Amino acid sequence: MWNQRYAADEFAYGTEPNSFLVQNAKILIGPVLSLAEGEGRNAVFLASLGLDVLGVDGSEVGLAKAQKLAASRGLAIRTEVADLATYEPPPNCFGSVISISAHLPSDVRKRLYPLVERSLKPGGMILFEAYTKAQATRNTGGPKDPDMLMDRVDLENEFPNCETILCQEIEREVIEGKFHTGLASVVQFIARKH
Ligand SMILES: C[S@@+](CC[C@H](N)C(=O)[O-])C[C@H]1O[C@@H](n2cnc3c(N)ncnc32)[C@H](O)[C@@H]1O
Repeated sequence: MWNQRYAADEFAYGTEPNSFLVQNAKILIGPVLSLAEGEGRNAVFLASLGLDVLGVDGSEVGLAKAQKLAASRGLAIRTEVADLATYEPPPNCFGSVISISAHLPSDVRKRLYPLVERSLKPGGMILFEAYTKAQATRNTGGPKDPDMLMDRVDLENEFPNCETILCQEIEREVIEGKFHTGLASVVQFIARKH
């Protein structure tokens, strides 16, 4: 489904980075692991700040576009095609992990997130933005399956070895390509590993 979505020349979520990421990028430490990076808009933005970024995604079509986007701007990013249901990030390796609109079933999150937390060095940062369960009734983007939508309490519980810096559910305009198109309910989460 994702390879199909990314097959068009157009970028499904645009080439501009996610605005929550832009607002908070200064707190990120490299190297950065970007979960479900897609077509590269966020990895390329972080690379433009001088950060070393590894974008992981299940779609080889998306990551090929990510590499092209980086090259078109004279930037380098690392990419890895992997299914997050089985992916094992190396321990104690990353300065930050980001996850933007990376909606996974709860059983996948349950396996992956402890590994994500373990992959951070002490003091490493987590930055997530995702649609909440309230988004299921809107037609402005995101999956409809409530199991793939996230909330504040889930996120805080899923990273028990991190200190929460920001954890809020808000409504905001998300305009990112033709699939994220207006007022949306999102959860925003920033935390630091102890
Ligand atoms: C809504 S897109 C967001 C892409 C990117 N984070 C962005 O903000 O532009 C969701 C991404 O999750 C990826 N994805 C979904 N399930 C996955 C899985 N099990 N393993 C790896 N990637 C997955 C898709 O390939 C897709 O690129």
